[in-house]
Amino acid sequence: MNLCSTHELQSVAGGYPALTPRHWTMRVSADRLSRIRRCLSMRQEDVCVVLDGTRYPHNISAVVRTCDAVGIADLRFINTTVDTKVSTLLNSAARGSDKWVRAETFNDRAKLLTDLKNEGKKVVATRMDGMDFREYDWTEPFALVLGEETNGVSRETTDMADAAVSIPMYGMVESFNVSVANGILLYEMHRQRQLKGMYDEMKHIDDQLLFEHALPKVAQILRESGRKYPKLVDGEFLFE
Ligand SMILES: C[S@@+](CC[C@H](N)C(=O)[O-])C[C@H]1O[C@@H](n2cnc3c(N)ncnc32)[C@H](O)[C@@H]1O
Repeated sequence: MNLCSTHELQSVAGGYPALTPRHWTMRVSADRLSRIRRCLSMRQEDVCVVLDGTRYPHNISAVVRTCDAVGIADLRFINTTVDTKVSTLLNSAARGSDKWVRAETFNDRAKLLTDLKNEGKKVVATRMDGMDFREYDWTEPFALVLGEETNGVSRETTDMADAAVSIPMYGMVESFNVSVANGILLYEMHRQRQLKGMYDEMKHIDDQLLFEHALPKVAQILRESGRKYPKLVDGEFLFE
């Protein structure tokens, strides 16, 4: 049986279909596995962040990084004017957090917002004239909508939203940078959810999900070629 480190395997991942998987085990360090397990178990799966036209890559990257930090893995873009895939528009400000946050672009705003509501989430628009964000109950499922750098959240979103929240400001400048606003809002969410023990529960993470996050490229190749994932045995992923 051949053993190969994560690093080696990732470096051959491009040519992987040519290999015979049952001859391989894949080792991921125990530390990394437990970090991934912890990160997945802290995920707030009932929360999503929506960027409604937000267009500057450095802002988007900073939003992604904060989402990752508080366990939000679901980011949706509406009508972004950045004509590129999320993975290529994210710059180094994301510091690799983009690998942990799923991002998808939508062009039909009304449909996306309706779908989010049908998922049981309240659509919360961020506006300068909303309720104080500390009074909102962030422990319920929600989709937080942040706006475009100049014009803010669109009229259509405002009309369809279940609530509008605002971060009070007392200076001469009328608004925060969008990524800063996102950070302030999501840490209030974190505070409220932590008080309710929503970051305490170590949810069970199954080995398949762990594999997908530990070795995403290999997992993708296996999926595309219709092969099964390996089993986790004594800290190693083992093909049978
Ligand atoms: C630069 S601001 C846009 C300002 C725009 N003139 C407006 O009236 O919304 C960009 C985004 O950051 C968020 N934001 C900035 N300051 C905020 C605040 N004080 N309260 C809530 N959201 C804020 C909102 O998502 C906003 O759409």
